[in-house]
Amino acid sequence: MSFSSPIRCVITAGPTREPIDPVRYISNPSTGKMGFAIAEAAVAAGWTVDLVSGPTHLREPDECILYPVITGEEMFNQVDALFDACDVLIMTAAVVDFRPKFPMPQKEKKGSAQLTIETEPVVDILKTVSQRKKDQFIVGFAAETNDLEEYATRKLREKNMDLIAANLIGSASGFGLDSNILTLLGPDGFCEKWPSASKSSLGRDLVALVTRKMEERRALSES
Ligand code: CTP
Repeated sequence: MSFSSPIRCVITAGPTREPIDPVRYISNPSTGKMGFAIAEAAVAAGWTVDLVSGPTHLREPDECILYPVITGEEMFNQVDALFDACDVLIMTAAVVDFRPKFPMPQKEKKGSAQLTIETEPVVDILKTVSQRKKDQFIVGFAAETNDLEEYATRKLREKNMDLIAANLIGSASGFGLDSNILTLLGPDGFCEKWPSASKSSLGRDLVALVTRKMEERRALSES
């Protein structure tokens, strides 16, 4: 079975940054490698790809449209604008969950080293857009230090995902590495544990899995 028009996919990648002052920010070590690898694989599969990415040092595939963003709010606005027209949303971005409530307009001098920064939550992009999900197939990611399947299952349910790719943060998997070890979970009890593989290979396997799951869903709705 094949889809009559190209699958339209939105992929988020990389970290977000939340400014403290004009020269400092809160962020995380995400490099964007996983998201860019999925974008490569999706383009190779003939999908149309919108890549919404926080700051990375990576080059996007020529065939995709890159939407560079910095903050979680910018990423939200872009994903929100693209979501209704997409078939697949894959959220690999490591979105910073809280931001300084009052970012300082000028560089803070080092005399304020004991500064206390008041923070506020950043919008949960996936949770917000997935509330108006129609036929979109939604994939989330989760990196955990412990209780991987328990936390991932909870996120899968709470954020209305169709699939979550979870990994433990450790020496063989996690931020910045070229490979990863993924556990894939679905709402129907689907569970696959993939051995260590390069992010390029994982990207291809994930695109193949999403294609298969969408075909299964379509066959079910037609029967
Ligand atoms: N996510 C999002 N918006 C946020 C935070 C996370 O869309 N503000 C997405 C991520 O891109 C990922 C999924 O939600 O696909 C799970 O992200 P994660 O950081 O693991 O979960 P959180 O809900 O932030 O929970 P916690 O940080 O407490 O583990």
